[in-house]
Amino acid sequence: MGESRISTFEFATATTIRFGVGLSRSPDEYALFRGLRVFLLTGSDPSRYEATIQAVRETATVVTIEQTRGEPDTVEIMRLVTEARASDAQAVMSVGGGSVIDAGKVVAALLTNHGALFDYLEVIGSGQPIVHAPAPFAAVPTTAGTGSEVTRNAVIGSTEHGVKVSMRSKDMLPDLALVDPGLCLTLPERATLLSGLDAATQLIEAYTSRKANVMTDALCVEGLHHFSRGFESTVEHARSARGVTGATEDDIDARSRMCVASLFSGLALANAGLGAVHGFAGPIGGMTGAPHGALCAALLSEVSRMNIDHADQHTLQRYQRVAEIIFGEDTTYRDLPDLLYHRVQQHGVDRLSDLGLTPDRYAEAAEKAQRAGSMKGNPVIFSDEQLIDVLERSA
Ligand SMILES: [Fe+2]
Repeated sequence: MGESRISTFEFATATTIRFGVGLSRSPDEYALFRGLRVFLLTGSDPSRYEATIQAVRETATVVTIEQTRGEPDTVEIMRLVTEARASDAQAVMSVGGGSVIDAGKVVAALLTNHGALFDYLEVIGSGQPIVHAPAPFAAVPTTAGTGSEVTRNAVIGSTEHGVKVSMRSKDMLPDLALVDPGLCLTLPERATLLSGLDAATQLIEAYTSRKANVMTDALCVEGLHHFSRGFESTVEHARSARGVTGATEDDIDARSRMCVASLFSGLALANAGLGAVHGFAGPIGGMTGAPHGALCAALLSEVSRMNIDHADQHTLQRYQRVAEIIFGEDTTYRDLPDLLYHRVQQHGVDRLSDLGLTPDRYAEAAEKAQRAGSMKGNPVIFSDEQLIDVLERSA
């Protein structure tokens, strides 16, 4: 197995990335907002990060605080845009999970670009490029999973169309990605579990992507090491409900490793793309409303099996590395799909049938997945029949 040559690549990310426990509580971190009116978006439980909100208030004028619940759809996003425009906001900040950060990217872009969300959405909208640079935008993640703080797209569900689609622009990369692992110490067990599995899926898919490059490879390998050392401990910490006050140094270290895994997965996927798990997760999420992380966890094992069964030597080498990092030096890539399956099942993650996808919709899911942007990174090109086979095995 010879090494492949280094190909041309490009790498784009947030203007500034700051990482550290407790950083989000420091007003100095929000210098980019000084003198500006800030529209602040949070998740459904802002009590988890009151000190962060207070630190922003000490630096800037917070004109509105909006809570978003679940994964916002086109209607909810346009409501937020209208609210931000009406409040004469000059900058946007998101403190929350991937959906809150994605919503913030859209609000920041539509504060400076006229029109409605549909003018800019891919697939179901006009897909127009944004003309003006978005308003200053800071992303502060409170989960460790999506890496959305360093990606250039926002994933938005359309209830009307039954799909999830993206608004995408390199200009939508945040001006500041502020990653404070201390914010994850209050993340509940299920969110810890599913966001962690999303990060792992993103690292595996970006590493085996046909668009991977030498820089994203380095991030994926390092990210997978941190995932394998931090994941189980963070789930245990969340389950024990030790929270902030009962957190040990080891708990903080584990949360930090998962924040690195998530951050690196975002850096990698934004520049290397993803694969069939995410190719499926977007459309099926739109069809069923099932959480993104749960869909990734349900599909990862069987997509890996199908890829390994049809992969070339180069891709098999990569799956071998993934198997060794997560499950130990003695593991081979042939064991990987079953090991992934057992790891996910051991945590009681739902099967695809429990997430609301019924067999009569497999053909529709496969057809939509074939058109999904993420599918372009998958190392193997599958037929519709093969994709349906993956769904049947994951049911
Ligand atoms: Fe994901």
